[in-house]
Amino acid sequence: MTSGWSIYVIVLVVANIVGAAWLLFWVRSTSGGASGKPQSLGHDFDGIQELNSPLPLWWVYLFLGTIAFAVGYLIFYPGLGSFAGVLGWSSVKEHDQDVAEAQAHYGPIFAAYAAKPISELTKDDAALHIGQRLFANNCAPCHGSDARGGLGFPDLTDNDWKWGGEPETVEKTILDGRKAMMPAFAPALGGPQGVESVIAYVMTLSGRKADAQLAEAGKPKFMQICAACHGPEGKGNPVVGAPNLTDNIWLYGGSHDAIAEGLAKGRFGQMPAHRDVLGAEKVHLVASYVYSLSHGSSN
Ligand code: HEC
Ligand code: HEC
Repeated sequence: MTSGWSIYVIVLVVANIVGAAWLLFWVRSTSGGASGKPQSLGHDFDGIQELNSPLPLWWVYLFLGTIAFAVGYLIFYPGLGSFAGVLGWSSVKEHDQDVAEAQAHYGPIFAAYAAKPISELTKDDAALHIGQRLFANNCAPCHGSDARGGLGFPDLTDNDWKWGGEPETVEKTILDGRKAMMPAFAPALGGPQGVESVIAYVMTLSGRKADAQLAEAGKPKFMQICAACHGPEGKGNPVVGAPNLTDNIWLYGGSHDAIAEGLAKGRFGQMPAHRDVLGAEKVHLVASYVYSLSHGSSN
């Protein structure tokens, strides 16, 4: 806080407290005050008088108490502009302290797990339990609490991997994230007819029905453009995250329209990096959990 703002806040706070105290004493002095007797305001109608009754004592003390509390609070805790309070308390310090305590408690546990390979942790119930918690807090919003994903978010339980399914590869995906990049190819396919022919060919790759003639016309285009990433057989390439188009497992849906949309707009799925968010040791545990989903655990 700049000193200008600090002074502004201090003036406001002090004026408020002084104002509240003054209000209290003013009201008491005009309403019979310490005498405790109601004063007449001089209005009288049909024998009914309007009175200015003194505040009840318990209420006055309560009010004084809140003023004393405010003054005490502002002496001990931050509140008066940039004055830090004599206790030196701050929410940041409190948070740092909590984190340090948690680190002291859990640090050795995570370090012990970090030293073990994923293949071993997938048989360790306690490790998988921690991994599951981490997953629920950090991954479930995108991949679902059952890790089965949804449109645009891959299913992590099916042992079908865009970026590779070795334990180290899965861990690397989580640590550093992945950026899929499929530009919009429709303009390069020679008009709507060209697009339809490639879609037809892609449909046949996963054994579905499509116009045979169209598919035949689409094949050379596929070989020319798509095979560079998806491979000549359409089985994908984990290096660029190009999915297998033959297994009928779809990230964006395998219908004619879904494929057409991908060709028209491109596809740019992003898995965010978690190295800085979670730290390598926690990623190791969550990777073990994810790996166990498609490779079974001890139970
Ligand atoms: C530069 C590499 C590259 C080329 C060339 C390429 N793709 Fe892709 N394709 C990808 C990547 C990477 C993805 C995954 C996109 C994502 O995850 O967001 C993808 C995704 C797809 C999908 C969605 C699969 C799913 O599971 O939903 C289809 C369908 C597809 N591509 C078809 C094609 C066709 C047809 C062509 C040729 C016209 C083509 N791709 C050319 C890289 C490529
Ligand atoms: C903001 C949403 C988001 C969050 C959070 C997220 N992911 Fe992902 N993740 C994605 C998307 C989108 C992809 C697919 C990227 C692509 O198109 O290739 C992905 C891909 C993956 C893959 C690769 C799957 C494959 O087939 O190769 C793994 C493994 C993965 N995520 C694990 C995790 C884990 C574990 C966490 C939690 C630590 C997590 N993700 C958090 C969105 C997310």
